[in-house]
Amino acid sequence: MGDKNGWDQSQLRKYDIPLDEIPRLDVNDPLVDKYISENKPVVITGTNLVGSAEKWDLEYLEKHMGVADHTVFLSRNHKFKYFDDKKVPHGANEGKIDFTPPTRRLDMKFPEFCRRLKDWKRGEERMYLQQALNSSVGQAIVHDFLNFNWDWINSKQKKNGWGPLTSNLLLISMEGNVTPCHYDEQQNFFAQIKGYKRCILFPPEQFECFYPYPVYHPHDRQSQVDFERPDYSRFPKLREAHGQEAILGPGDVLYIPIYWWHHVESLMRGGYTVSVNFWFKAGPTGQITYPLKGHQKVAVMRNVEKMLIEALQNTQEVGPLLRALVLGRYTD
Ligand code: FUM
Ligand code: FE
Repeated sequence: MGDKNGWDQSQLRKYDIPLDEIPRLDVNDPLVDKYISENKPVVITGTNLVGSAEKWDLEYLEKHMGVADHTVFLSRNHKFKYFDDKKVPHGANEGKIDFTPPTRRLDMKFPEFCRRLKDWKRGEERMYLQQALNSSVGQAIVHDFLNFNWDWINSKQKKNGWGPLTSNLLLISMEGNVTPCHYDEQQNFFAQIKGYKRCILFPPEQFECFYPYPVYHPHDRQSQVDFERPDYSRFPKLREAHGQEAILGPGDVLYIPIYWWHHVESLMRGGYTVSVNFWFKAGPTGQITYPLKGHQKVAVMRNVEKMLIEALQNTQEVGPLLRALVLGRYTD
């Protein structure tokens, strides 16, 4: 990869993980459909999916985002590890699991977000706006939204038998912010609008390399592994991870297949970034073939965990029961 597109290698964080490049194909290349149908990532150029949002810089958004509050996460470092508020233990359960919220959430109006960005100084909390596009936005944004290339994306949804679009998340990130490695339970077309983001992906078959938190944990679906300070003694299989990466610039669309691990970083010294993702529910399973595919096995594992949590009514009993089940019986 080169620097001809407005970024250079020194803007990338360094990780000790082998990475290949995600294929980059024109929207009319027939291989695009092959990749999507096989649940494999691909960067698609020329879709015009969010062409109507090309003008979504901070000035334009400040004028047109409307007067509602927006969700902004604040972090003391550059990492914005997601956590599920509903899984944070309260009352008697507090302290039963090891969890400290890594970010705090602040709702603010768009002009305040812009002001804080302009006034931001090194050492202060970093910010990341993550707001679902909803009916609170102003007329101009609604107009741009309606002019997204719905024909293209709807045809992909149909062709691949996906379920409905569930949401569009607007992401406005400071340069250098990182969304650490995690997987989502939906199909995602990730559209880059302003600035450059690097996305690193791993297939669901590498589940063991990333040691996700337990399903009941607020960091469910997040990897426990820190790419910057890998603890190989705790997470030895991380050494076997082998990923694929892409740098997305304005107009690029990345297909992030359901259950694929992904890490996303806004390039350092690249200014703020604006992206929108399009999440779709998985389609009906249809004819199942064996052996199951990696993502289907992850879904099975999640269900087994959920069943045990429900049956035992005590998350602390899940590990010991699983150990009793497998040790010396299903282990070599
Ligand atoms: O930071 C990000 O753009 C993350 C996106 C995602 O996880 O889908
Ligand atoms: Fe994600």
